[in-house]
Amino acid sequence: MDAQDFWVVIVIGFCFQAQILSSQNFTCNPNDVKALEDFTSSLKTVIDGWGSSFSSDCCKWEGITCSSSFSLGIGLNNSIDTFRVVKLELPSKRLAGNLSASLGTLDQLRTLNLSQNYLIGTLPTALFHLRNLELLDLSFNDFSGPIPFGIDLPSIKFLDISQNLLNGSLPGSICDNNSTQLRVLNVAANYFSGNLPPGFGDCTSLEDLDLSTNYLTGTGDAIPKGLFGLRKLTQLSIQDNKLAGPLSEEFGNLINLVRLDISSNGFAGTIPDVFYSLEKLQYFVAHSNRFGGQIPPSLSSSSTLSLLNLRNNSLQGSIALNCSAMISLTSLDLGSNQFDGPIPSNLPSCRHLSDVNLARNNFTGEIPENFKNFHSLSYLSLSNCSLSNISSALQILQQCHNLTTLVLTFNFHGEQFPADPTLHFEKLKILIIAYCRLTGSIPQWLSTSSRLQLLDISWNQLEGTIPVWFGNFSNLFYLDISNNSLSGEIPRSLTGLWSLINGRSSTEEPSPDFPLFVWRVSGRGLQYNRVWSFRPTLDFSNNNLSGAIWPDFRKLRSLHVLDLKYNRLSGPIPTSLSEMVSLETLDLSHNELSGIIPPSLVDLSFLSKFSVAYNELYGVVPTGGQFLTFSSSSFEGNSLCGYDASPCPSGEDGPLGTWYGKSNKDYTGVIAGLGVGFVFGIACFVGIDRYVWTF
Ligand SMILES: *[C@@H]1O[C@H](CO)[C@@H](O)[C@H](O)[C@H]1NC(C)=O
Ligand SMILES: *[C@@H]1O[C@H](CO)[C@@H](O)[C@H](O)[C@H]1NC(C)=O
Ligand SMILES: *[C@@H]1O[C@H](CO)[C@@H](O)[C@H](O)[C@H]1NC(C)=O
Ligand SMILES: *[C@@H]1O[C@H](CO)[C@@H](O)[C@H](O)[C@H]1NC(C)=O
Ligand SMILES: *[C@@H]1O[C@H](CO)[C@@H](O)[C@H](O)[C@H]1NC(C)=O
Ligand SMILES: *[C@@H]1O[C@H](CO)[C@@H](O)[C@H](O)[C@H]1NC(C)=O
Ligand SMILES: *[C@@H]1O[C@H](CO)[C@@H](O)[C@H](O)[C@H]1NC(C)=O
Ligand SMILES: *[C@@H]1O[C@H](CO)[C@@H](O)[C@H](O)[C@H]1NC(C)=O
Ligand SMILES: *[C@@H]1O[C@H](CO)[C@@H](O)[C@H](O)[C@H]1NC(C)=O
Ligand SMILES: *[C@@H]1O[C@H](CO)[C@@H](O)[C@H](O)[C@H]1NC(C)=O
Ligand SMILES: *[C@@H]1O[C@H](CO)[C@@H](O)[C@H](O)[C@H]1NC(C)=O
Ligand SMILES: *[C@@H]1O[C@H](CO)[C@@H](O)[C@H](O)[C@H]1NC(C)=O
Repeated sequence: MDAQDFWVVIVIGFCFQAQILSSQNFTCNPNDVKALEDFTSSLKTVIDGWGSSFSSDCCKWEGITCSSSFSLGIGLNNSIDTFRVVKLELPSKRLAGNLSASLGTLDQLRTLNLSQNYLIGTLPTALFHLRNLELLDLSFNDFSGPIPFGIDLPSIKFLDISQNLLNGSLPGSICDNNSTQLRVLNVAANYFSGNLPPGFGDCTSLEDLDLSTNYLTGTGDAIPKGLFGLRKLTQLSIQDNKLAGPLSEEFGNLINLVRLDISSNGFAGTIPDVFYSLEKLQYFVAHSNRFGGQIPPSLSSSSTLSLLNLRNNSLQGSIALNCSAMISLTSLDLGSNQFDGPIPSNLPSCRHLSDVNLARNNFTGEIPENFKNFHSLSYLSLSNCSLSNISSALQILQQCHNLTTLVLTFNFHGEQFPADPTLHFEKLKILIIAYCRLTGSIPQWLSTSSRLQLLDISWNQLEGTIPVWFGNFSNLFYLDISNNSLSGEIPRSLTGLWSLINGRSSTEEPSPDFPLFVWRVSGRGLQYNRVWSFRPTLDFSNNNLSGAIWPDFRKLRSLHVLDLKYNRLSGPIPTSLSEMVSLETLDLSHNELSGIIPPSLVDLSFLSKFSVAYNELYGVVPTGGQFLTFSSSSFEGNSLCGYDASPCPSGEDGPLGTWYGKSNKDYTGVIAGLGVGFVFGIACFVGIDRYVWTF
């Protein structure tokens, strides 16, 4: 068997390889064994399959691939061939600890993949001098500090150090030392700062450059000229940095670009009219910059573009897309700009257009009659577009047979919610018509939209009762009817909502390209979120609802938020609510509830927001569990004691004291067992300041 065959065998399988190794008595090079020993000793964790005692046959260890020195073209004069480590691949192995510089002595290494571990410390300089290294993947670890100075990786093709805690500036000239084969460079989601270095221009083979989510700065010519010479570049991701100034016309030189994301920076001026030369561009994402002026003609007639996202800029004028030219367009997000004039009526002739967000623009008038032919339309948001005539809008839109998401918030001010019994939205999954001050009642026709998952008709002036048929919506997991004038009882049928009992069956997104809302995360900016991350919610607050809270609410084990504040609900708080094990928010404040706070509620280990303020409750506030974290404002306005602002009178006599002593005894055991859930319940909310709807 010659060297060539050997290589083939190695590729075929590890078992084979091991067998042949022993029959040929080839062993791991002693220097390589030493390097690997040092590597393991700097870790805090043991690598499965490497054992505790080091046999010299390191080639048999998990994650190691060897190659004979013959096939590598080295050591030809040795009478005994040795095996050299060429690949070290231990991704997702829960490795913790530091990365030893000894790996730098594995001078035949081609592939090093240690991604998705818990490695800390600085990146060893020696790693960046491995002259044979082709693939380096250290992404998703906790490495910190700078990229070592003096990179010398002449064979490197793929370099990924994204999702770490690295900082400092990007190396001035990463391709100086002839790293000209580099095809993929990903440094995303670190803390890199400073300007973009000019040296990227030397990486002439670069196809995918990802610098996103760092603190990179630059104004004027924020992007160095050299970068525009990278003719092979197909993906450029520089979003979520602090790049500013105008966007250079030289972008037109990047003729092979397929995806370009420059969103969440400070780019200003007009968008250059260079898209005629970007003949392969499919995704252009430039939201959350400061672009003004109009959409350039080359962009509004691109035949390759499938996603165009210019949301949250200061673009003006009327929207004039050439739909005969834009034959690939599927997603269009022009929300939060200053477009005016009528809603563009030609959009239905963009034949593949399915997702449209035009929210928060200064349009006038009604939904164009033409939209009844919009058969490709699946997602439509027209929030805050100064629309009038909701009756006509719904008549037209019901003819869009593929419509699954409809968002019409902040329009139709004070009109009547159409009650026309012939209205029919069969495929609708998400309907949001909030903040419209609509009058009337919840219309019967809505009962035919049996696939509804999310319904928000809050902040209107709807009267009448909550319909019993809401209980038939087996996919409904988010219902917000707050801030209306609804009265009567909460229908008992709602305690049978299938999705809130059994969990959501579908997590399919209404649009793969748009987030419905963003979380504002402290320290790390905005995090775009999707419908599946909405918390299962029933929000009936600020109405005139009366009657009792059904003990059968206990069945809603998947409900996260139950908000009933500011109503006229009466009767006791059912003890059985403690069976709603997923509850994070329970707000019963400002009602007419009476009796005690059931001590069983301390069992709700995910509860992080709780209020029963301003009711007619009495007795002692239970202690333990999450109740240790609630402030006095959760309890004020009752005849309760046993919380900060209202300690119980001393002495355990009388009915109150007896009850207190008993309940306390019953629950100490439970409290002890709460540790894990308690910590997790808090952790879910750490860092999230608030969320902002994007529609
Ligand atoms: C290989 O090892 C076996 C036993 O382990 C031994 O009998 C044989 O002589 C060795 N061959 C060489 C070429 O060293
Ligand atoms: C191998 O031997 C040849 C001559 O026999 C010599 O010129 C060459 O330098 C040697 N190579 C190594 C790596 O020792
Ligand atoms: C490294 O391993 C991870 C996990 O298996 C994998 O997803 C990733 O693609 C690998 N990196 C490269 C560059 O192949
Ligand atoms: C390992 O990393 C930690 C955290 O960065 C650092 O404090 C420590 O000095 C490193 N240890 C070694 C041996 O490099
Ligand atoms: C190139 O490699 C040499 C030798 O390793 C090193 O001294 C130098 O700093 C490197 N240059 C750059 C720009 O990384
Ligand atoms: C990088 O992070 C370290 C530790 O957090 C800090 O001491 C250092 O000043 C930072 N360097 C830069 C250039 O920001
Ligand atoms: C880069 O390659 C060229 C030609 O292959 C060579 O002349 C030059 O010395 C190399 N530079 C470095 C820093 O290795
Ligand atoms: C809109 O863009 C600005 C920057 O121009 C940014 O600060 C803001 O967070 C963006 N808002 C959203 C909701 O994306
Ligand atoms: C729209 O695009 C088509 C096809 O590319 C072209 O023939 C037509 O002239 C364009 N219309 C306008 C108004 O630019
Ligand atoms: C509605 O849009 C106008 C500008 O078109 C803006 O000033 C206002 O803040 C928006 N309101 C909401 C609630 O988004
Ligand atoms: C919106 O349009 C109206 C009338 O067309 C105009 O008076 C108003 O100034 C515009 N508002 C903005 C924010 O452009
Ligand atoms: C409607 O949606 C279905 C499935 O999502 C799709 O196959 C069909 O092409 C759509 N209709 C139009 C006219 O786009």
